[in-house]
Amino acid sequence: MQRLQDRVAVITGAGSGIGLATARRFAEEGARVVCVDIDEDAGKKAAEEVGGIFVKADVTSDEDVARMYRTAFDTYGSVDIAFNNAGISPPDDDSILETGIDAWRRVQEVNLTSVYLCCKHVIPYMQRQGKGSIINTASFVAVMGSATSQISYTASKGGVLAMSRELGVQFAREGIRVNALCPGPVNTPLLRELFAKDPERAQRRLVHIPVGRFAEATEIAAAVAFLASDDASFITGSEFLVDGGISGAYVTPF
Ligand SMILES: NC(=O)c1ccc[n+]([C@@H]2O[C@H](COP(=O)([O-])OP(=O)(O)OC[C@H]3O[C@@H](n4cnc5c(N)ncnc54)[C@H](O)[C@@H]3O)[C@@H](O)[C@H]2O)c1
Repeated sequence: MQRLQDRVAVITGAGSGIGLATARRFAEEGARVVCVDIDEDAGKKAAEEVGGIFVKADVTSDEDVARMYRTAFDTYGSVDIAFNNAGISPPDDDSILETGIDAWRRVQEVNLTSVYLCCKHVIPYMQRQGKGSIINTASFVAVMGSATSQISYTASKGGVLAMSRELGVQFAREGIRVNALCPGPVNTPLLRELFAKDPERAQRRLVHIPVGRFAEATEIAAAVAFLASDDASFITGSEFLVDGGISGAYVTPF
């Protein structure tokens, strides 16, 4: 499929995980991909692989975010798709009773303020074009509570979800779609390592997922490519769950 032929896509956190899988998928579908990451090695590698360009940026920096879209526009002549995906989930973000103010603030900066900055800087390009698709990575924890808390992470993703909805509504008549992607747990190296050490911990989570497994990053990337494309032309302001049924489940199959 070439649904994204010649569209210019900027992906934050393109060096790893969901961002990397999406960079590959976008390129397969014909897009020109601008890979943004704070990790120079990983970001460069991703850009080389997909035949795009790399921009080193910290998504918490106003100047860096402005520069990454400017670079995309100056190089390719438009900014059609923004996948605002970079995020962190550090171990010092835990129960509200344990999480200190510095850990709280850091997660808010990287996961939520970054999305504010990305949307603020990319929307003017899309307004001038009269067209654009923004996909902000939230999480299923934006719509469900967890007893294994990461309190700042959860609050940040709730913020991403509410902000995306509002922007989707505000800019709908200017041809700009804004959706919040809410992935369920994804099979990442970190998750695999954690659960290899502690199978009980993995099982405690898996039992809640109707399909009985975690997502692969490629399955999340497929949803992002759909939202980015004109196939999703009537989808905006949505809470786009790609979660194996977790948020709809009461009793799951054996
Ligand atoms: N993995 C999951 O199970 C899961 C589930 C739901 C939502 N998410 C969300 O999906 C997104 C991607 O997660 P992932 O699992 O692919 O993570 P990952 O750690 O594999 O990749 C994140 C990338 O973001 C980059 N990054 C981190 N801070 C940055 C900054 N300040 N500026 C620029 N780049 C920065 C990292 O260098 C890394 O390459 C995150 O927003 C995460 O919260 C992940």
